[in-house]
Amino acid sequence: MSKRIILNETSYFGKGAIKEIINELQSRHFQKILVTTGEDLLEFGVATKVTDLLRDAGINFEVYTDIKPNPTIENIKNGVDVCKRFDAQAIVAIGGGSIIDASKAIGIIMTNPEFSDVRSLEGLAETKNKSLPIIAVSTTAGTAAEVTINYVITDVEKKRKFVCVDPHDIPVVAIVDPDMSASMP
Ligand SMILES: NC(=O)c1ccc[n+]([C@@H]2O[C@H](COP(=O)([O-])OP(=O)(O)OC[C@H]3O[C@@H](n4cnc5c(N)ncnc54)[C@H](O)[C@@H]3O)[C@@H](O)[C@H]2O)c1
Repeated sequence: MSKRIILNETSYFGKGAIKEIINELQSRHFQKILVTTGEDLLEFGVATKVTDLLRDAGINFEVYTDIKPNPTIENIKNGVDVCKRFDAQAIVAIGGGSIIDASKAIGIIMTNPEFSDVRSLEGLAETKNKSLPIIAVSTTAGTAAEVTINYVITDVEKKRKFVCVDPHDIPVVAIVDPDMSASMP
């Protein structure tokens, strides 16, 4: 019996790894980036470690922070609207499982708009296209969302969470830098 293993194209592990983001974006010729993160992560100076690098490199970016822990369908739909309006070429997701999962759903809907209702992504959705490229910067430990093909969305109306499994959503680059999770309580 054979087993399938799906990996990120590139992964960086170690102190200082976030600096690699700039090379990764520039080598792919990405000029307009949607940064997905949380208000707290900006306030605690976690996400700003990455946005400072983007600003210094002259990369044009828009920040989307309306993502709750256990991200909701509404968080995804609003994120897709922002991503479309900004015409982003890629997503840099900075956070734990909640931010990275929400970014996967946003990235998938951007390239597979027939799933815009979000609920239809539950389970093994037959998406046709790879997600908008995602660089996932983990700020927690445990979910491994930066290296998996899964994401979990909360349906507030139906009071349930649902799991989506899609090889098209794996982040192209995963970054695990201990400086990004040092502020975890
Ligand atoms: N994709 C997957 O394979 C997978 C697997 C397991 C769970 N999940 C999902 O992941 C989510 C949980 O993710 P999580 O446990 O990583 O937490 P989280 O992303 O929900 O974050 C929890 C809290 O920690 C804060 N936080 C994050 N990083 C921080 C830092 N460096 N310093 C200070 N505060 C920080 C956040 O602002 C938030 O308030 C759930 O929605 C769960 O369903 C996904």
